[in-house]
Amino acid sequence: MTHDSHLPLGSRVAIVTGASSGIGLAIAERLVALGCRTVINARRAELLREVAARLDNQSLARAPIPRVLPVHGDAAEQDVIDRLFVAAESPETGASCGFGAPVDLVVINAGRGLSGSVATSDPSQWEEMVRTNLLGAARLMRTAAERLLAFAPIPEGESGMSGPWLGRPRDIVLIGSTVGRNISPFSSMYGGTKFALHSLAEAMRREIGPKGVRVSLIEPAVVESGFQAVAGYDPQNFGAFMRRIGPVLQPADVARAVEFVVSQPAHVHVADLLVRPTRQDYP
Ligand SMILES: NC(=O)c1ccc[n+]([C@@H]2O[C@H](COP(=O)([O-])OP(=O)(O)OC[C@H]3O[C@@H](n4cnc5c(N)ncnc54)[C@H](OP(=O)(O)O)[C@@H]3O)[C@@H](O)[C@H]2O)c1
Repeated sequence: MTHDSHLPLGSRVAIVTGASSGIGLAIAERLVALGCRTVINARRAELLREVAARLDNQSLARAPIPRVLPVHGDAAEQDVIDRLFVAAESPETGASCGFGAPVDLVVINAGRGLSGSVATSDPSQWEEMVRTNLLGAARLMRTAAERLLAFAPIPEGESGMSGPWLGRPRDIVLIGSTVGRNISPFSSMYGGTKFALHSLAEAMRREIGPKGVRVSLIEPAVVESGFQAVAGYDPQNFGAFMRRIGPVLQPADVARAVEFVVSQPAHVHVADLLVRPTRQDYP
């Protein structure tokens, strides 16, 4: 049996969280450029609307109906997560302007860093970070798994050697981090959230991979984005680090990695991809 070696993404319906900036924005740009209908999320409503309008305009050259829907709000809240799926799945006509199709690609990207260790980081920011990077991601993983398992199922007890699932790749992609694999004392509270996320990703992969849904982890090292300012990195120290290991990654470099993972045929799973600037030796 043969399968296409690289699938076009044009028929897919995606959700990307944390899409107002940095990596999430680059992933959304890439998916929309490849023809995916995409729901984007972040908390800054106005900025998100502007991003959606810009991406939609770019894609409108090829499609007369909206390809990008903004749903603003905190991605750690269950009602916001539910609204992401409702936005995509509601019909294209009438009061709503959804895509009228099930979501088959969920990119769990919203997150934030925090400079420092258990001893030195600002404890007033711990709860928000754990809530966003871990609990929010877990809530979205849970909802995404439930939704993606609901269509093109491999019936219990039946062979997966053939069936509709092979023509319908379904993906949950998590943006982890190299500090979720390598212990770094310089950002250990942040790294702790990503270590936990990596273990959830692998556990869910074992759980739903056999049912045809891929759970993939992308582990970027240093990417130049809004991340450094939010995390509170000292610009001078970090600037010197960037010069020593640079050029560092750009968000578009991570977006290409996501494209590579999700464009594989349904029976191929690139489950874990670590992407570093070539000259970054540590961590
Ligand atoms: N940059 C790096 O070096 C690096 C390396 C490895 C992994 N990562 C991971 O990559 C992901 C994206 O980070 P980035 O580098 O692109 O940083 P960024 O430029 O600061 O972007 C973070 C995005 O997440 C959104 N966001 C934050 N909290 C949110 C929440 N509770 N609900 C919804 N959206 C939220 C932000 O938008 P709003 O403020 O509008 O909500 C923004 O769009 C994070 O998970 C980060 O841990 C980054």
